[in-house]
Amino acid sequence: MSTVRQRFDVPFDFPVHFTRDVFGANSTLLLDELLRGTTTAPKVAVVLDGGLVAACPALPGRVTATLDRGGARLRRPSPPRIVPGGEPCKSDPRHLQALQQAIAEDGLCRHSTLVAVGGGALLDLAGFVAATAHRGVRLIRVPSTVLAQDDAGLGVKNGVNAYGRKNYLGTFAPPWAVLVDHSLLATLPLREVRSGLAEAVKVAVLRDGAFFAALERDAAALTRGEAAALEPAIRRGAELHLEHIRGGGDPFELGSARPLDFGHWTAHRLEELTDGGLRHGEAVAIGVALDSLLARDAGLLPGPIAERICALLAALGLPLHHPALEALDVADALDRFREHLGGELTITWPTGLGRSTEVHAVEVAAVRRAVAELARRVVRAPERSDGGAPGPKARVTPVPAELRP
Ligand SMILES: NC(=O)c1ccc[n+]([C@@H]2O[C@H](COP(=O)([O-])OP(=O)(O)OC[C@H]3O[C@@H](n4cnc5c(N)ncnc54)[C@H](O)[C@@H]3O)[C@@H](O)[C@H]2O)c1
Ligand SMILES: [Zn+2]
Repeated sequence: MSTVRQRFDVPFDFPVHFTRDVFGANSTLLLDELLRGTTTAPKVAVVLDGGLVAACPALPGRVTATLDRGGARLRRPSPPRIVPGGEPCKSDPRHLQALQQAIAEDGLCRHSTLVAVGGGALLDLAGFVAATAHRGVRLIRVPSTVLAQDDAGLGVKNGVNAYGRKNYLGTFAPPWAVLVDHSLLATLPLREVRSGLAEAVKVAVLRDGAFFAALERDAAALTRGEAAALEPAIRRGAELHLEHIRGGGDPFELGSARPLDFGHWTAHRLEELTDGGLRHGEAVAIGVALDSLLARDAGLLPGPIAERICALLAALGLPLHHPALEALDVADALDRFREHLGGELTITWPTGLGRSTEVHAVEVAAVRRAVAELARRVVRAPERSDGGAPGPKARVTPVPAELRP
């Protein structure tokens, strides 16, 4: 036998800009990123989220005007394309094929760029198309939901749903750049705003107790979508996610653990079971509440902290329970989560605010008990033992009208 060992490192380096009015008359950011490192006029294709365009009909014209300012420095084979936003664009293979075909017809090459503007679902679809066309054309993401700005639009993953499973087909592919434009959130429905805050709560619990306290303090303004509270919350949530990808040591998830996927073993299954009836962030909120109670019951998380986590989610207008939880096949959900990662089942549970641990087994009976507790509980304001301001007001866990059985 003779063996030639291959080993090489490929550095990744991409900017995430936090800004406003990317498509305003005075912004050069998009052009700067499109032209960065190019010598010949690169080709550009644009895909826009249909829900965003419906809410902001002027957007295609503003995007076109922004690119027009690039003059002959850019080549644009087609006007912006509009793809229906939300989970259907990831679940219906016709959208995938149509976008792939569009890229082929535009003649994009690996030095060309696909610009995708939209929510996490549209960005996941566009990312998959960009990563697989010619084995990778450049992708600039412009996330337009809270969830996409504080989580989904920032990282190195993409994917579409297939064979009844969420994100079954996908790749790890860092983008060329991410332009986080907070002004795009002006048209976002409040339900979507709140859904996106679930990922901020999740990462605050795991990584940053001070951020968690800031979310508690600003909960009322956040749940109303007030920009003054929302933008710093998105920014801190985004920073924590980016720090994890950059410094966590496993950006392409080769190990068995996915340390930021707290609450996600339930969330992914709930999204599948409700067939999109629950937003990703809503499903994450339920998963975070459930795992917090499980961690408490396992003696890992102090009870008052579990209360504060549930109270904050509720104060942000997020559900802590859904009837589909009753139908959840726990063993199957855990197994699918394990299968998605490979290796041993590894679930992250909080042990305090800003601290976490990994567990490798979850008792089905314990989950049943925690689900029953979520179903009947009234979330009460926790008494702060540290002398700080009281937590959010006592309230019944809200369940949006459209989610009631
Ligand atoms: N790749 C990742 O790392 C990652 C991480 C987390 C979540 N995700 C994925 O993200 C998806 C959820 O993303 P999401 O929460 O952003 O929701 P979404 O993409 O489903 O969008 C929600 C709705 O808002 C509309 N919309 C988007 N921007 C708008 C705006 N500014 N104004 C008005 N309407 C607007 C969309 O058309 C859609 O109807 C899920 O598919 C999830 O799996 C991916
Ligand atoms: Zn998530």
